[in-house]
Amino acid sequence: MERLEALRVVVDGILDGIENPEDRRCGFVHLYGVSATAVLLALRRGRNAELAAAAGMLHDLATYETGTSDDHAARGARRASEILRGLGTFTDADVEAIGRAVAHHSDKAAVHDAFSELLKDADVLQHFVSNPETPPLALHAARREALRQELGL
Ligand SMILES: [Fe+2]
Repeated sequence: MERLEALRVVVDGILDGIENPEDRRCGFVHLYGVSATAVLLALRRGRNAELAAAAGMLHDLATYETGTSDDHAARGARRASEILRGLGTFTDADVEAIGRAVAHHSDKAAVHDAFSELLKDADVLQHFVSNPETPPLALHAARREALRQELGL
């Protein structure tokens, strides 16, 4: 898990640079929240939990870093790959899997590879467990229901 700790240092450094305290708080809560829900789903689905943790931390980082969600998923994927390559501890296959999942994560209506699906579901699950009484976004509703079934919630 050492490479996850190194990644957390980079993610923390970027989030610490957000000026607005509310935006900063949201960044920490959402990214580490999705990291945790991604691990939960990875353990349940027999997927790589360490890569799931990394993907969760990185999936919206570019948006928090720049304060704009323009070209959200594609830009996020490029930034995630750049950070992982910079650490030098993730293989090309790791970087590719995470980059692909981040690139797909906003497309909640479509179905992609299993690891991309895990990240999308982790995103929906974090919103759900943070505000369980709040109705889901329309785009999240079907996934939230499927997660409730899968996890017995
Ligand atoms: Fe997200």
